[in-house]
Amino acid sequence: MRKRWLAGLLHALVVWSLTEAQIRYTIPEELSEGTVVGNIAKDLDLKLSEVSERNLRLASESGERYFGVDSAKGELVVRARLDRETLCGQSATCLLPLEAIVENPLQLYRVEIEIQDINDNSPAFQNNAKVLNIAESTAPGARFRLEAAQDPDVGSNSLRTYTLSKNEHFALDIITEKDGTKVPQLILEKSLDREKQPTLSLLLIALDGGKPAGTGTAEISVHILDINDNSPVFEKAQYDAQIPENIATGAVVVSVKALDKDEGANSEVLYSFAPHTTDLINSIFSIDSLTGDIKVNSKLDYETGSSFKFDVIAADKGVPPMEGLCSVHLEVLDINDNAPEIVLKSSPSPVREDAPVGTVVALISARDLDTGENGKVRLTLLPGVPFTLKPSIPNHYTLTTERTLDREAHSVYAVVVVASDSGSPPLSSQQEVLVSVVDVNDNPPVFTQPFYTVYVKENSAAGSILCSVSALDPDQGQNAKVLYSVLESRVLDSPLSSYVYINSENGSIFSMSSFDYEKMKVLKVQVQARDQGSPSLSSNTMVHVFIVDQNDNAPAVIYPSAALGSVSHQRMPRSAKAGHLVTKVTAVDADSGHNAWISYRLAEATDASLFGVSFHTGEVRTKRSVSEQDDSSQRLLIEIRDNGEPAQSSTVTVEVLIEDGFHEPVSESRQKSPELNKRSGRITLYLIVALASVSSLCLMTFFILLVKCARGSRGGSSCCIRRSDSGYKTPNRNLQIQLNTDGPIKYVEVLGGDVMSQSQSFGSYLSPMSEFSDFTLVKPSSTTDFTDTLNVLDASLPDSTWTFECQQVRESQHLDFV
Ligand SMILES: *[C@@H]1O[C@H](CO)[C@@H](O)[C@H](O)[C@H]1NC(C)=O
Repeated sequence: MRKRWLAGLLHALVVWSLTEAQIRYTIPEELSEGTVVGNIAKDLDLKLSEVSERNLRLASESGERYFGVDSAKGELVVRARLDRETLCGQSATCLLPLEAIVENPLQLYRVEIEIQDINDNSPAFQNNAKVLNIAESTAPGARFRLEAAQDPDVGSNSLRTYTLSKNEHFALDIITEKDGTKVPQLILEKSLDREKQPTLSLLLIALDGGKPAGTGTAEISVHILDINDNSPVFEKAQYDAQIPENIATGAVVVSVKALDKDEGANSEVLYSFAPHTTDLINSIFSIDSLTGDIKVNSKLDYETGSSFKFDVIAADKGVPPMEGLCSVHLEVLDINDNAPEIVLKSSPSPVREDAPVGTVVALISARDLDTGENGKVRLTLLPGVPFTLKPSIPNHYTLTTERTLDREAHSVYAVVVVASDSGSPPLSSQQEVLVSVVDVNDNPPVFTQPFYTVYVKENSAAGSILCSVSALDPDQGQNAKVLYSVLESRVLDSPLSSYVYINSENGSIFSMSSFDYEKMKVLKVQVQARDQGSPSLSSNTMVHVFIVDQNDNAPAVIYPSAALGSVSHQRMPRSAKAGHLVTKVTAVDADSGHNAWISYRLAEATDASLFGVSFHTGEVRTKRSVSEQDDSSQRLLIEIRDNGEPAQSSTVTVEVLIEDGFHEPVSESRQKSPELNKRSGRITLYLIVALASVSSLCLMTFFILLVKCARGSRGGSSCCIRRSDSGYKTPNRNLQIQLNTDGPIKYVEVLGGDVMSQSQSFGSYLSPMSEFSDFTLVKPSSTTDFTDTLNVLDASLPDSTWTFECQQVRESQHLDFV
């Protein structure tokens, strides 16, 4: 601009004659368009009309751009914005030269316009957000040069000073350099601590000298750079944690945390166990160096380690690193993780079944690895066994018997011992203890039957098995081994052992001889079973061997006596009428029962029409009157048969001699006969009366009957008195008194069952009144008196209980003639 202006000036000087007149206008910058600078026409001494006539105009380029001439008024006016700072920069004065030209005559005038500065610019910082990094260790007094602010205004409007916002650490110093530039400087007055205040924000204000003063601000961020001046510090000096012993492997037990107030690497903390940490802790625990988590690596066991103490170091990454230390105290909590254990101090000893209550069977102890309540163990038994646990010294028990034992009921006990601790929840365990009961010979052998009854036929072969007895012994082994024996006694003057033999092992009884019913009706064998215990126990039983009668005896003829010869001779008068009793055949049969029932039959006769034989009584009577024609000698063959199966028989031959004029002795008998019949009838009546009331007055009736019988009356009924004990204990006390008769009482048979008088029978047979009497003395007896017999019996059985029975043994029989 100035060059152009100078070129224009030179041109004017060269082409135009220049007037000396110099006009200067002084205007402030930044005038608005149209502002009048001055009346140039007047100042050039031109008339107002001349302005247009002579074409007053501005010649210079710059003059034309910024100014113009108002031809009507002759005034110089501003045409464009005038910025002094643009036109003149930092020059202290700003002159804008103009050339004004008029024609006719052509004249050139120089006009100078001085543009004065106004404070139209404020100071400004090129970078109004400044970051300043200062290490926190910087000593006070240190200076930090800042950027100077710029103000294009000049003079008093230019930058004058700076101010700094209020702060603790920095002061402001303004240095004026040689060229006059004013430079602000920060002076550290108080040392910085990043850890307290990592950044500072300062406001630097630049002020110019204008009125009012323009300002420019810059924000200064002071970043305090960290120095590793802080060691890591743990949140706690000691970490306490309680961990259950069953904590899972890998679980975090405790987390330690250390903080470092420094920054960056200086605050980055790495955790580790202190160097002096034991190998055990190193093996059980590990620490995460970054997070500080302490984990368990292996299973914990309260029982081997209940607490752990170690130190943890936190080191930062600064150079040199700084360290902090804390201690960790871990307490392991007991968990009820150990079941109680049952320990048998000795294997249980077998206990005798007769052991007294309280006998010690076994010693049992209990243990639990846990502590406290978890380790408190109580032992109990499952119920149902005759044992009890008695505590002795702590945690020790004795297993003792609580009741008496019986091996036969229970030979071995499975005693279940239960141990439970007091933990929550409690743990328990159990163990079975087998206690065997040792047998004691406390049971005698017991026969399977209270007594044995055997029927054996007489005459059967010796050596045959009679019966087998058997006794059981619930004991064990030798105590249960039973041997059988026969208790010796004498039977019919021979030792019992000559009759029977017993197999001692299996109790089979064999006969040693054949038996004869006629000699012995029952054989009583007392058998003993004895176990082999020590001492041994035994029990007895009775075997009744009843000998069963066989028809092994033929009837024996007693009268007429066959011994005199094979033929018996009888005499009778020829005058005999029908029904004359010739003789009476009497026979006995040694057998009993049916085998002894005897019947008579006329087998052969010289004249069968003359004689008849009573089937039951054996009386031989005439069937008709004897006539003169009848042979004087008559032979009769009479057969006597028993009722056995097969029947046995014998015969007797009777020779009857019929005599003329034979004195008949029968009259007595005939006279007697009605009397006898009368008596007999009376007794029968008594009997009927007696039997009618037998159910209630049996005893009385019996004695009445007995008295009547004893008075010599021979009745036609039979009476029986039987005495028996109801118990088994004295089976031998079995007495039978039999008034046995066919019709009239023939004999009294007393069957005694005493051991000593085994098979003895008392017989009292009533002697026949005469040869014609109904009664025959069968066998001579010690006593003929019936009452005497009874007295003897009664005396021999003093403690006996008598029951009396009266009955008609056989249906009353009548004499019947065949
Ligand atoms: C007992 O033993 C004898 C001889 O060995 C034998 O004959 C008999 O049959 C046995 N008895 C039993 C009941 O086994």
